[in-house]
Amino acid sequence: MSLNEAKNWTGALGVLLESSQDRDPAEVIRELCDLAHAMGDETAEALLDADPTLYRHMPALTRAFYERVVRKEMAETERLLRHVWVGPVSFVDVASAAVMRTYNRVREMFERVDFRACRRFVMVGCGRLPVTMFHVHDRTETSEIIGLDIVPDAIETAREIAARFGYARIGAELCDGQAHDYGQAQIIFITNMIASKAAVLSRIAETGPPDVRIIVREPYSLRRLWSESGERSLDPRLEIIGWGSAHPTLSRDLYLKRRSEPTSGGQVR
Ligand SMILES: C[S@@+](CC[C@H](N)C(=O)[O-])C[C@H]1O[C@@H](n2cnc3c(N)ncnc32)[C@H](O)[C@@H]1O
Repeated sequence: MSLNEAKNWTGALGVLLESSQDRDPAEVIRELCDLAHAMGDETAEALLDADPTLYRHMPALTRAFYERVVRKEMAETERLLRHVWVGPVSFVDVASAAVMRTYNRVREMFERVDFRACRRFVMVGCGRLPVTMFHVHDRTETSEIIGLDIVPDAIETAREIAARFGYARIGAELCDGQAHDYGQAQIIFITNMIASKAAVLSRIAETGPPDVRIIVREPYSLRRLWSESGERSLDPRLEIIGWGSAHPTLSRDLYLKRRSEPTSGGQVR
């Protein structure tokens, strides 16, 4: 990247971020995604690493993104709970196209992680409309599919909508992911928007079973300005197995397992 190019991208990014002070941050996020696609992931990551002061915009952008997702989830759950269908109906037949895009985002997870021996799946940050958990219920025999959230209303609505669509193996608990005991969980999914992602990963390293598999929805490129990265301060007891595919929303799944303990002779067990 030439110096000139770097200057141009830095300038464009700076102007856009400054404008978030007196514009709708959600609109700025849309333009940041366009800018990120224009400059490319590597350039975007390099600009952020070169100037950490850009993160002063993170609280406002994170809040705006969170509020936008919650507004959409509230609108969809209200529509689904208010609607009266004649006879049994399945979620995938009546959910909106936008929600089905989130539902289908985890398709790759089923190709990368073996659910055959999974008795308990935990989702950290399930929200009001835990479509990731619905997909696990629709696609696997997992007997316990548990969502954690820190918002009481989100838990109540998640339980109501799961019952509405017959998701009998789904439960939801009011619990911060940093405080949960993951001892019985074989597979854990951490949504992108949770607060204290790194601390949640350490809690899993602390309490999870030896063969636990973890999927973290991670930001990359400019999305690191409104979603926390767990990988960048990954607990040393965990190791990366692989990455999922890139996505226009500048997030992808990171696959983790427990790091193999070195034996006394230094060989890996
Ligand atoms: C809006 S949802 C998005 C998930 C979406 N429903 C899905 O299926 O992918 C993200 C949720 O994470 C919750 N959250 C944030 N930090 C958390 C934490 N440390 N522990 C548990 N839940 C958390 C928020 O309250 C919010 O409801």
